[in-house]
Amino acid sequence: MTIREWKFEDILTLSQLEEQCFSNDRWSYRTFANCYENPAFYGIVAVDGDEIIGYAGITVASDSADIENILVAERYRRSGVGSKLVKELIKHARKKGASQIFLEVRVSNVPAMCMYLKYGFVGSYARTRYYSDGEDCLVMKLTL
Ligand SMILES: CC(C)(COP(=O)(O)OP(=O)(O)OC[C@H]1O[C@@H](n2cnc3c(N)ncnc32)[C@H](O)[C@@H]1OP(=O)(O)O)[C@@H](O)C(=O)NCCC(=O)NCCS
Repeated sequence: MTIREWKFEDILTLSQLEEQCFSNDRWSYRTFANCYENPAFYGIVAVDGDEIIGYAGITVASDSADIENILVAERYRRSGVGSKLVKELIKHARKKGASQIFLEVRVSNVPAMCMYLKYGFVGSYARTRYYSDGEDCLVMKLTL
């Protein structure tokens, strides 16, 4: 499994993976394309052979960074792919001079929260009824 930067032609596959995984608030092809055009955005994919099995993205603005998304295809989960993606995003934020990284996670998303806790993120504050289905969001923060 290797990690590389997104290419424009990956976007269709990324939006299909997003569709398979999320029923609400998922990113559209257009959202991915907008990110691709944003110079502050860094998007990466995990690749197994020819297959994209995960992706993640981060925006760095001055000393603060935001993890925008991270996803691993269902059948590849729990084998360290998410960890590799997170570690690469943290490395990138550090290299770009960020001193803190934020992210938003659904309060019911135990796998993601456990992963972020493992890599040093801590709960910072909650946003009530943040998602379109009424679920709350936890904002997590990593101080670099
Ligand atoms: C969250 C996600 C990216 C994790 O990817 P992954 O490749 O399965 O993660 P890893 O195998 O690298 O696991 C890293 C750590 O995450 C935690 N973790 C992962 N899946 C877990 C689960 N089902 N239950 C509890 N902890 C879990 C564990 O702490 C794990 O470390 P360990 O293996 O030492 O126990 C994956 O579950 C996913 O794509 N979920 C759907 C998309 C999503 O929710 N994205 C996050 C939006 S904020």
